[in-house]
Amino acid sequence: MPSSTSLHFADRVAIVTGAGSGIGRATAIALAESGARVLGVGRRKEALEETARAHSNIAVLPLNICEEGAADTVVATAVEWWGRLDLLVNNAGITAVMPLAETDRAVITSLFDLNVTAPSMLAHAALPHLRESSGSIVNVSSTYGHRPLAGAAHYAATKSALEQLTRSWALELASEGVRVNAIAPGPTETDVLAAAGLPQDAIDELRANERDRIPTGRLGDPKDVADWILRIADPLGAHVTGQVLTIDGGLELA
Ligand SMILES: NC(=O)c1ccc[n+]([C@@H]2O[C@H](COP(=O)([O-])OP(=O)(O)OC[C@H]3O[C@@H](n4cnc5c(N)ncnc54)[C@H](OP(=O)(O)O)[C@@H]3O)[C@@H](O)[C@H]2O)c1
Repeated sequence: MPSSTSLHFADRVAIVTGAGSGIGRATAIALAESGARVLGVGRRKEALEETARAHSNIAVLPLNICEEGAADTVVATAVEWWGRLDLLVNNAGITAVMPLAETDRAVITSLFDLNVTAPSMLAHAALPHLRESSGSIVNVSSTYGHRPLAGAAHYAATKSALEQLTRSWALELASEGVRVNAIAPGPTETDVLAAAGLPQDAIDELRANERDRIPTGRLGDPKDVADWILRIADPLGAHVTGQVLTIDGGLELA
């Protein structure tokens, strides 16, 4: 099993969305340590710059990936700087607590915009370059992309959509040498719940409840997830495509 220091990504070029925090930051750093040149994308410039300070192979592009034309800008930037593209990590995502009784059209739209439409437009823009490099796409789903989630059904539905995109694109592109896989994290120690607007006491209660239900007895660390993003993206894993790998300490089994 390759480790993040085995340099399997030497001279490869990767784009990581949501690289200013959590799983995206850990992935950008692990890829850079493995020899890749990494373009880290997100809205907050300062957060991205903190990620870039961790490794000289990381460059950043502050931008909202939901904006019109953003996907083309991201891909063109990586290709202009480094001449190729080998890996797209569609990691940026948001969640929202929204029981059916509180359904709000604007929340549904924003969840699908970031979790489904933006990764689709990035994959579309990346495709010609991935064909040239026999590259791959890794989509970041969730345990709740394939398990039900009471109180956050639309978040679960966006991740379920991302898993179906993963399988369908994998089938569509396999004969062209482009692989598409997904990593599905379980509850992981990041700012994702704060970003969804939950107050700290609600976050603490939710996380304690999740920790109790995870068979390994702990929440995930961003590095747990990042390491598997690298493993499934590893150019040596050329025969693995269309897979969704869950990294959740066994939560989906419980
Ligand atoms: N942590 C968990 O428990 C967990 C579990 C399952 C799945 N996941 C998934 O893991 C992925 C990473 O989340 P995380 O846990 O690492 O949370 P996080 O720290 O909140 O990361 C989300 C990242 O997405 C970026 N982002 C949000 N909106 C954006 C936009 N419009 N344009 C560009 N970037 C944007 C954020 O940066 P800016 O705010 O600077 O834009 C942030 O860096 C998400 O897809 C999430 O759904 C997380």
